[in-house]
Amino acid sequence: MPAPIVSVEDLRKRYPQAADEAVKGISFSIDEGEIFGLLGPNGAGKTTTIGVLTTRVRSTGGTATVDGFDVRKDPTAVKQRIAVVPQRPNLDRSLSAIENLTFHAAYFGFSRRERRQRAEELLDAFGLAGRGNERVDRYSGGMAQRLMIARALMHRPRILFLDEPTTGLDPQARLFLWDQIEALREAGTTILLTTHDMVEAERLCDRIAIVDHGERIALDTPRGLRQLLPSDAGLELMVEPGRANGSLTAALEALGEVDTDATGDRSRIRLYGNARAGEVAAAVEQAGAKLIELRVLEGTLEDVFVHLTGRDLR
Ligand SMILES: Nc1ncnc2c1ncn2[C@@H]1O[C@H](COP(=O)(O)OP(=O)(O)O)[C@@H](O)[C@H]1O
Ligand SMILES: [Mg+2]
Repeated sequence: MPAPIVSVEDLRKRYPQAADEAVKGISFSIDEGEIFGLLGPNGAGKTTTIGVLTTRVRSTGGTATVDGFDVRKDPTAVKQRIAVVPQRPNLDRSLSAIENLTFHAAYFGFSRRERRQRAEELLDAFGLAGRGNERVDRYSGGMAQRLMIARALMHRPRILFLDEPTTGLDPQARLFLWDQIEALREAGTTILLTTHDMVEAERLCDRIAIVDHGERIALDTPRGLRQLLPSDAGLELMVEPGRANGSLTAALEALGEVDTDATGDRSRIRLYGNARAGEVAAAVEQAGAKLIELRVLEGTLEDVFVHLTGRDLR
């Protein structure tokens, strides 16, 4: 087995003055050529983890290596091998698109000709051919996002970090980026991406670490994660239990494993197992509760995610 290209061991980060650690001992490793996902809600510690791996944030515990180089001891070697597309746009808006690309490559020591040629190639690949001379402040959000990825690729990084690359994009722009990310995988680039979009994680990632409150709570292939549900089969019900709460729970527990979230008058109940919709509806009614909605759980990553992290808003 070749050594992993990214290795993170018991990584910790406490920001100055923060009461709690933003990252509380996360471990994972990424093999060359993999698309690895960090999936988690807002504030989970995804951007902080990327910050450490890209040498922008200094860890307060644990170790992280990129292509064998320790991010704390050899930040320059790390920076030469990676590129990062940050969560927030940081293009130079007063420059043209092509200047944004070529200035970036100059920093990495590419010749003027190489820079120009590579910039044209990437503008083309990212659907920006003919728009290179426009100033970036005229670009739409989707165009700016594509340009940020093009800029990241100028120096042919071996490892690309994408921090929520599709958040806020329209569906077309999102599909386009997914295709681009898959093309990068074909070309052998290793990718770490963060997202809170289950569909995206499932579609793109070879393996996914689910993080929440600074901790890794699961790590597996999308398929393996789906198997973390008590059963990957089941039903989800929305009910108004009224005064029937206790008898309803008892009736459902006789049919499978029950997971309840109550908000106001309503409860959302996940019933794992092989109970049939008809018998469940009958049981709800017999208990004296009102059934509002019933759907089949498909064992999607979203179901896994909610099962593991709960429904609290962040
Ligand atoms: N520069 C900072 N200073 C202090 N706290 C921070 C800073 N950046 C992030 N945090 C805190 O660290 C936690 C993790 O944030 P972040 O890594 O941005 O999560 P995510 O990217 O998963 O949304 C949050 O509680 C956030 O408020
Ligand atoms: Mg973030």
